[in-house]
Amino acid sequence: MTTGVLDSGVGGLTILMQLRKRYPQSNFIYLADHAFCPYGTKPAGKLKERVVDMAKLLVTLGATNLLFACNTASLFAKEAEQALSVRVSEVITPTAQAACGATKNKKIALVATRNTIRSGAYRNIFAKNGVSTYCADGGELVFLAENAAPKSERLRCVQKILSANFGGADVLVLGCTHFPLFIKYFRRCWKGKIVCSRTDLHPQRAEGEVRYFTTGDAAAARRAAAVFGDVPFEKILPQGV
Ligand code: DGL
Repeated sequence: MTTGVLDSGVGGLTILMQLRKRYPQSNFIYLADHAFCPYGTKPAGKLKERVVDMAKLLVTLGATNLLFACNTASLFAKEAEQALSVRVSEVITPTAQAACGATKNKKIALVATRNTIRSGAYRNIFAKNGVSTYCADGGELVFLAENAAPKSERLRCVQKILSANFGGADVLVLGCTHFPLFIKYFRRCWKGKIVCSRTDLHPQRAEGEVRYFTTGDAAAARRAAAVFGDVPFEKILPQGV
């Protein structure tokens, strides 16, 4: 049993590294789709096709179930599941539920990519729980994370995003798996609770093997992932999927 983990880049490593700690005897294949990054601003039709193709690639590489460790890809989890007949877990539902449980004043601030915000996926879950949503596009942070931007730029960008009107929300959701890479800046600038993207996946025990692939440049992926140590990304060409 092997879980295939998909993100547009290194953001999904924030989820994978937690899973590896909790389940050291599970197998994972991580796929960073750097060639198509960012997902957050791509037209929905093209993105859906691409996400299903990347899911197929993970299955071709040996994945027996999938985790979209990316909020934007999570929008197409059902389509991928139907196309491939493998279980696809997503991060939006468990994250939104955790946030609903954390808010006291029923107001949640959501920082996510443009596509995630526009989809209404979070807003719908919040509304069902009687919670109002206040959104801000944080897509610029994806670029900063992938390009190892300096600290001052990171802080400035977080400050700019959090200058939006969040209506007095008491919980902030980081609805993009790249954003926990900026957690110290969010903590510095946000006084309430912060909920990061999460998964409720319980992978099966196996040999504890992990492989890392990128559709982009392997050296650049290693640099962007340096905060996690030496992540041995290998380049993969997504041909024939
Ligand atoms: N990490 C992704 C997410 O959680 C996508 C970022 C992007 O490629 O725009 O939405």
